[in-house]
Amino acid sequence: MSQALYRTWRPALWEEVVGQEHIVQTLKNAITGDRVGHAYLFAGPKGTGKTTSARLLAKAVNCLDPDLAKRPCNQCANCLAVNEGRFLDLIEIDAASNTSVDDIRELRDRIGFAPSQGRFKVYIIDEVHMLSTSAFNALLKTLEEPPAHVIFILATTEIHKIPATVLSRCQRHEFRRIPVPLIVDKLNVISVQEGIQIDAESLSLIARQATGSMRDAISLLDQLASMSKHVSLAITQDILGTATSQAVIDLVDSILSGAGSQGLEVIHKALDSGADPRQFARQLVDHLRNLLVIKLNDGKDLELLPETRVVMTRQAQALGTGQLIDLVKGFGEAANDLKASWQPSLGLELAYASAITWQAAPAVVEVAKSTKPAEKMDRSVPVSKPQPSQETGMSEQAARVNQATAPEVHEAHKPAERKQPNPASTETGGNEAASGEKLELSMETVRGQWDVLKRAVREKDSVTSALFNSARLMNVRDSTVMLNLPSELLQKRMLEEKNQTLLRKIFRTIFNQEVKINCTVGANPVTEAAQDVVPNGLADLAIRELHGELQKVNKTKKSKDKDKE
Ligand SMILES: Nc1ncnc2c1ncn2[C@@H]1O[C@H](COP(=O)(O)OP(=O)(O)O)[C@@H](O)[C@H]1O
Ligand SMILES: [Mg+2]
Ligand SMILES: [Zn+2]
Repeated sequence: MSQALYRTWRPALWEEVVGQEHIVQTLKNAITGDRVGHAYLFAGPKGTGKTTSARLLAKAVNCLDPDLAKRPCNQCANCLAVNEGRFLDLIEIDAASNTSVDDIRELRDRIGFAPSQGRFKVYIIDEVHMLSTSAFNALLKTLEEPPAHVIFILATTEIHKIPATVLSRCQRHEFRRIPVPLIVDKLNVISVQEGIQIDAESLSLIARQATGSMRDAISLLDQLASMSKHVSLAITQDILGTATSQAVIDLVDSILSGAGSQGLEVIHKALDSGADPRQFARQLVDHLRNLLVIKLNDGKDLELLPETRVVMTRQAQALGTGQLIDLVKGFGEAANDLKASWQPSLGLELAYASAITWQAAPAVVEVAKSTKPAEKMDRSVPVSKPQPSQETGMSEQAARVNQATAPEVHEAHKPAERKQPNPASTETGGNEAASGEKLELSMETVRGQWDVLKRAVREKDSVTSALFNSARLMNVRDSTVMLNLPSELLQKRMLEEKNQTLLRKIFRTIFNQEVKINCTVGANPVTEAAQDVVPNGLADLAIRELHGELQKVNKTKKSKDKDKE
């Protein structure tokens, strides 16, 4: 394939750089007034135009166009050489891979030589914060007295790691995250020119997902365009895994307002539209963790768009630190709940029910210790009183568990006692399929043969094999094997006749009977959650709580891993 779209679309003229007007204007003025400095520091998030602007500056100072205002002209020999990456006086150093003091010394030794092609030798040192202290010191010496023919442009995503001594010697420019509308405009231009068919909603979703990075936005567009002829919103949401992020915000708002039915609706809507419950819980945990970070230290380092930050700051202010920790923990358990697969929404519903309980009466768990189970139930799970389960929107199953104040609840959890319609049933369906002379086709036997199946598919067809590998076994019933695929796109492919035929054939060989293959879709549930989340089942947890046995959740337990940013 051709080169990455974001490279093809690297601005070759100042006018094509968007969202950094203040910087572009200053640099252009310096060129026109022939007052270019000798050391620049470009700081800001990735993909906002630092390298691009550094190259534009390098090109402009070496451009041969007699009209200073037209530099870079993109037509003279020097401009063309820079564009084609063969201009000898533009030296780009990636500090991430050349961090040693020797590298910088070598640079210093060579710096004395006059430029060979142009007027200025331009050194672009990318990711300059990666330099070691001694390398910084060596660099500093050079920055103190740079030769007249040398220009340094240092670039970094982490300005706080740059020593003050270096900062003070550079003209500093801070690149901003690019606002969503400007990214959308650019993506529009690119799509039209590249002949990419894409829905307007997809463009703005991509733009929002890119959190201000034009490079990320263009790369996402590139990726989506290579996946599908027509990039619809649905495909975009599928692939970006963003279908539920508004739902996450809505759910926290429901917790804040203590509105029981509203939050349950949010959960059900998200799951109905294909979100994987554990994935959804994980998104919630991420979001809650970020709220905690905002609460504790303003979240300055979180990569957030301004509008998202406003919403999150509001939510963080409305919640107490202890509450946030409880929420992270509660939904963390839902995220990691392997046993809840027979009733996917239950873990979320219970975590949510606990959340609004704590929200309404933070001390309820302690109080409950001295209360009889039945009384406590009434108070601690106000949304799930038996009768109004309709209007609260809580699923029947969850309501049933909550109704059960007596020990029967334990029974409800046992597979044998399950009588409700059960889409994700794992063990019960198998026996029905096993009639007559056929080999038994059940969850267990299919699981047991999984590796054999995988191998057989691999031997026959690599595409089917790739699809099969990304599939997760959901259940087996009535001669139908239900697989879960991580996206709608993959689901569709899996349902294609060619793949179906092959899989049916392989199943027939192994199980000696006709087997239908069907697919559901959802974010990949196989990826395991963070290890430090308590892995016990949420249903168990809820049941213990209903019996007043639940210990107060350890509020001091440290929240999840540190910032990944
Ligand atoms: N401000 C911008 N205007 C237009 N395109 C941009 C801008 N910033 C980044 N891009 C796009 O992203 C790509 C990478 O940008 P780059 O300048 O390398 O980012 P970084 O800030 O990480 O150095 C460019 O090739 C271009 O396609
Ligand atoms: Mg860069
Ligand atoms: Zn030129």
